[in-house]
Amino acid sequence: MSVHAGDLTLVEDVSFAIGAGERVGLIGESGSGKSLTATSLMGLLPDGVHSEGSIRLDGVEHDLVGATQKQFSGLRGRRMAMVFQEPMTALNPTMRVGDQVAEVMLIHKTERSRADARTAAIRSLERVRLPDPEKIARAYPHQLSGGQRQRVVLAIALANGPELLLCDEPTTALDVTVQAHMLDLISTGIRERGSALLFITHDLAVVATICERVLVMYGGRIVESGTVREVFTNPRHPYTQGLIAASDLETDHAGGRLVTIPGSVPPAGSFPSGCVFRTRCDLATDQCAESPLWTGEPERGFACWNSGEHT
Ligand SMILES: Nc1ncnc2c1ncn2[C@@H]1O[C@H](COP(=O)(O)OP(=O)(O)O)[C@@H](O)[C@H]1O
Ligand SMILES: [Mg+2]
Repeated sequence: MSVHAGDLTLVEDVSFAIGAGERVGLIGESGSGKSLTATSLMGLLPDGVHSEGSIRLDGVEHDLVGATQKQFSGLRGRRMAMVFQEPMTALNPTMRVGDQVAEVMLIHKTERSRADARTAAIRSLERVRLPDPEKIARAYPHQLSGGQRQRVVLAIALANGPELLLCDEPTTALDVTVQAHMLDLISTGIRERGSALLFITHDLAVVATICERVLVMYGGRIVESGTVREVFTNPRHPYTQGLIAASDLETDHAGGRLVTIPGSVPPAGSFPSGCVFRTRCDLATDQCAESPLWTGEPERGFACWNSGEHT
């Protein structure tokens, strides 16, 4: 799958599969193309941006690339759902939150009557451990805290037991004190329903806690993939090595400071030819101006000319 805005390629040749119940992390610095990848799967790309290639959901006849909004609306909120960084993106400010949870069940006919949906909505709010769910159900989004709002969004996302839950930095906008609780609710919520998870974050420690597999993205491409254990203990791409060195997983104890990767992700449209990371890579050679081949399998591999010999 790739994502384009006019002549610009924002995400290129991103290819991965998520199995039933699998928990996959998508990591990379800001501007890597993580959000566009997720919104492309959900049919929620911004205006002027479109995807090409193929996106398949088990049992769905048509390709999601090029699917109509009508086709997407039959799937979103039912078979797949998304939690965004900012809860207000997903909530209607003029509707009581209980009605918003009930609505998603009525639309997809998982509850038949309004009364049943209302009862089920309160149960859903209870499952994300909102205290006094009946009172919360009657509240409007602005009457709730950021953490409560995000729990409502999670309740809506999980209401119909989706096969796939996408989370795009779901705790970034929350108080540090409630972040761990939110992660716990996501983790428990998907396990209870058997949902698969695509979890976007730049926090590697979070991926290590809740995911089994990880995809590393840079400059609109996946540069490495593998199990969390393999990638974090034996990163093969210089970018992944840099990310790990820059994360809390490995602090520079000698200097007592955090290592950072010098420079930043170039804006889409100014990616260098060949390996997109080569302009920031200490190990780059002339060969890196050619597109690196993927070394390994789709599930465990990396895109670097050095074939990991530098590790
Ligand atoms: N609507 C858009 N039009 C043009 N470029 C965009 C648009 N949305 C995002 N981009 C660009 O695409 C790249 C990837 O964006 P994004 O997926 O949001 O990255 P991430 O979520 O990893 O931070 C960035 O360079 C961003 O500026
Ligand atoms: Mg993003």
